[in-house]
Amino acid sequence: MSFAFAEINLANIERNIAYIKSKVGTHVEILAVVKANAYGHGSVEISRKLVSLNIRNLAVATYEEAMEIKSENIHPNILILGSITNEEIISCIKKGLLFTVYDISQLYFIDSLNLENINFHLKIDTGMNRLGLEPKEVSESLKIISTNESLELHGVYTHLPESNLADSAFTNKQIALFESIILETKAIIPSVRFFHIANSSAIFNFSQLELNMVRPGLALYGLSTEKNDQVFPLMKLKTSIVKIRNIIEGDSVSYGRTFIAKNEMQIGVIPIGYADGLPRALSNKGRVLYGETECEILGRVCMDLTIIDLSKVTNPQIGDEIVIFGNHKVSVNKIADISETIPYDIVCGISKRVKRVYK
Ligand SMILES: Cc1ncc(COP(=O)(O)O)c(C=O)c1O
Repeated sequence: MSFAFAEINLANIERNIAYIKSKVGTHVEILAVVKANAYGHGSVEISRKLVSLNIRNLAVATYEEAMEIKSENIHPNILILGSITNEEIISCIKKGLLFTVYDISQLYFIDSLNLENINFHLKIDTGMNRLGLEPKEVSESLKIISTNESLELHGVYTHLPESNLADSAFTNKQIALFESIILETKAIIPSVRFFHIANSSAIFNFSQLELNMVRPGLALYGLSTEKNDQVFPLMKLKTSIVKIRNIIEGDSVSYGRTFIAKNEMQIGVIPIGYADGLPRALSNKGRVLYGETECEILGRVCMDLTIIDLSKVTNPQIGDEIVIFGNHKVSVNKIADISETIPYDIVCGISKRVKRVYK
């Protein structure tokens, strides 16, 4: 195949869900985060698989992402976590999509609507300083909701900026604040179904945080910011050699001539570049795999092509497979480390033109 493709092993999401369930217990609902095209894995296929595994709640970032899933006749509860316009809020109400109220003006807006069955989650900002109502706005919000029969508060949640640190005074302060908000909410609106706070690393690091719903994203896809052998990656990024050439001492490779051969060597060209999501930061730093042999990336990663060192490979041929990441030797985390970023950035960055192949 003369292009890059991402092989997605759907069986591994089942293993990852089983692991998350074993951590949180069966009384806790999983709100599976499938935003950003399911972290690059394909939101429709991933959502379909999750629903087949009896996951009843999915979360996306935008109205478009919610509609993409809904239009494929996949019908879990879908919660939009991110920013939303008032027009989109009206469409959500009519289409049965859950949305997040993260600013008190939105609450006044839905309170003014002449519509019924307005189901939503309330997001409270307890320290991220991103989306969410101020804790001091909670009382006023609960009063508005409790006095309008059309407003059905389905859930209340907050988000943690450093749940990857198991021992964080900041997180503990957020938890205490959110616990007081839960008590206040339950006292005024006992019908609220869900309270949630935990993303993947919070599930692993703060077992008291499960409440009755958790919001894993990264762990579903078998990835983790810290070492975790209990989850299994779904995505393997692969391509194949499209050109082989021999160069001699002093020859340069790729744009800017940042690699100069010190001796005679055999190099290969692979059809993947930064427009596919291969970070340009891997230029002269990254490695790919030919079988079990690690091959260095030579020179700058181009938009559509990258050049690799084949000197350690015996008799390479055009068409031979190259693994960019997804096995024990070149993991997403390793690529992220070299690129000075996080695994989220790597998988979300795999672009549309990389074909997803499901197994
Ligand atoms: C509000 C919210 N909840 C949950 C998640 C899932 O986080 P993770 O992928 O770390 O599990 C995200 C991801 O960015 C998020 O923004």
